[in-house]
Amino acid sequence: METDYHVPVLLKECIDGLNIKPDGVYVDVTFGGGGHSRAILQKLGKNGTLIAFDQDPDAQRNKIDDPRFLFVDQNFAFLKNNLRLLGYKQVDGILADLGVSSHQFNEPERGFSTRFESSLDMRMDKQGKLTAADVLNTYPEEKLHRIFGIYGEVKNAKSLARSVVTFRANQPIVTLADFKQAAAAHIPKGKENKYMAQVFQALRIEVNAEIDVLESFLLQSAEVLHTGGRLVVMSYHSLEDRPVKNFIAKGKIRGEADKDFFGNEEKPLKAVTRKAIIADEEELEKNSRARSAKLRIGEKL
Ligand SMILES: C[S@@+](CC[C@H](N)C(=O)[O-])C[C@H]1O[C@@H](n2cnc3c(N)ncnc32)[C@H](O)[C@@H]1O
Repeated sequence: METDYHVPVLLKECIDGLNIKPDGVYVDVTFGGGGHSRAILQKLGKNGTLIAFDQDPDAQRNKIDDPRFLFVDQNFAFLKNNLRLLGYKQVDGILADLGVSSHQFNEPERGFSTRFESSLDMRMDKQGKLTAADVLNTYPEEKLHRIFGIYGEVKNAKSLARSVVTFRANQPIVTLADFKQAAAAHIPKGKENKYMAQVFQALRIEVNAEIDVLESFLLQSAEVLHTGGRLVVMSYHSLEDRPVKNFIAKGKIRGEADKDFFGNEEKPLKAVTRKAIIADEEELEKNSRARSAKLRIGEKL
């Protein structure tokens, strides 16, 4: 086990949230360094099962040698089918710790961090077809505008998209340096880091289809949970937290809950805590990654 692969965030809170039954079946859809998975296994008895997903082949080096542990090298957008293939129609708890691991973020060649001068890749699944450079070099201007604006909340998204398209007519945008050159006129002085972080967030979400994948996962999670089973989701920005919150409270990705003929809300889950759980000062001091984490817990009705 590599200790610097990833430090698990809100570990105790996630495990408490799963309300683990020793002989239950649990799914960690974002295995990463396996910090949460190991803590789940500690709570399981000898008849318990833990199924872990990760689409990044690097995570496989952290696989746990334990007869109760199964690893699935797939995107969690395919949760239901993979569980069925393994012979599980329903499970007792599902944990999702969204986004990238510290390992992915700290590897320069993965292209996730603005700290390194590397090529613009950003694929979590290394077999994925689309890189961030592909997005920048092939997407129409209007689509780039939408991605920067909606996924990155970049203020001058329209003019940035225009500049990208103008720049790439002469030279492809392959590295961070190329992008900075293309965007030079739009990066606000003194706020370079924040601006670049927003642009990178937008590109990463697009490359990995993170919002579509999350929405599909949420819908499937409610289908595969046993009554009383728990859905525990940790997100790191509002584009993820919003659908998670709405789905747990209303049973829909957006909008109000459906109602039956008598006016009763029809929804698969109820929220276990009214507010999102966030990290305390002690954890924040030790782990800056916990700063933006929001944990929400739903229970299958
Ligand atoms: C924040 S890390 C999880 C860290 C983990 N909880 C731990 O304690 O080490 C997220 C992990 O989930 C994986 N991941 C993200 N989205 C995924 C998806 N749609 N399908 C499968 N794995 C995904 C990433 O490759 C990454 O390894």
